Amino acid sequence: MRKHQINSSKLFILNILKNLGLFFNSNLISLNKFLMQIKMPINDDVVLGNNVKIFHPDLVNLYGCKIGDDTKIGTFVEIQANVIVGQRCKISSHSFLCEGVTIEDEAFIGHGVMFTNDIYPRATNEDGSLKTESDWQTIKTTVKNRASIGSNATILPGVTVGKQAIVGAGAVVISDVSNYSIVAGVPARVIGDIRFRSSSSVQTTDS
Ligand SMILES: CC(C)(COP(=O)(O)OP(=O)(O)OC[C@H]1O[C@@H](n2cnc3c(N)ncnc32)[C@H](O)[C@@H]1OP(=O)(O)O)[C@@H](O)C(=O)NCCC(=O)NCCS
Repeated sequence: MRKHQINSSKLFILNILKNLGLFFNSNLISLNKFLMQIKMPINDDVVLGNNVKIFHPDLVNLYGCKIGDDTKIGTFVEIQANVIVGQRCKISSHSFLCEGVTIEDEAFIGHGVMFTNDIYPRATNEDGSLKTESDWQTIKTTVKNRASIGSNATILPGVTVGKQAIVGAGAVVISDVSNYSIVAGVPARVIGDIRFRSSSSVQTTDS
């Protein structure tokens, strides 16, 4: 993981200030003005498309990423630098999209989905020095068009989840998932093909 920015401390300070405001009621109006000026945890460098819906903008952590038109983002989601999220996606609450991740159009990311970008993570180098960005390389992970990732799934670095594929809840995906496949389990294995599920809406006209 990289470029992790801690906004929770800012929220903590905000809460203290709010409580102080309640205590010193007469100063509440000026305190509110002050709070309005504090930057919320969507950094200025985030590129938001048209009509992106972020349900609680004060309870997400977005920086250096790009979000496509009409995409919805739930509460407690973190999206790191250089992540690209396509159009009309749904990113459910508590999910973590780290640097190196690309989510294509109309993909669904369930609750608490964890992406990863370091296959052998370490806090320090062999000599005990803290790792820096130069000791680390981004590994790219892609979720293709209209694919869905079930809640609490973990996606290992470098994986491509094929278009319209479905990853089951709680799966640990360690290798590529082919288009239309349904995978589940730890490690994730193919358990079906979404084109043969009568209740699913699958577009098969695209190649
Ligand atoms: C993966 C999934 C799509 C499979 O649905 P399905 O095709 O109807 O599969 P079935 O229920 O017929 O199960 C088929 C087999 O896979 C197993 N299985 C299903 N889902 C599983 C999962 N998430 N993890 C592990 N095994 C799973 C079943 O136990 C069954 O095993 P068996 O053949 O040995 O009895 C579904 O179970 C799932 O996890 N959906 C994601 C839900 C979710 O996270 N939604 C997020 C928004 S709330």
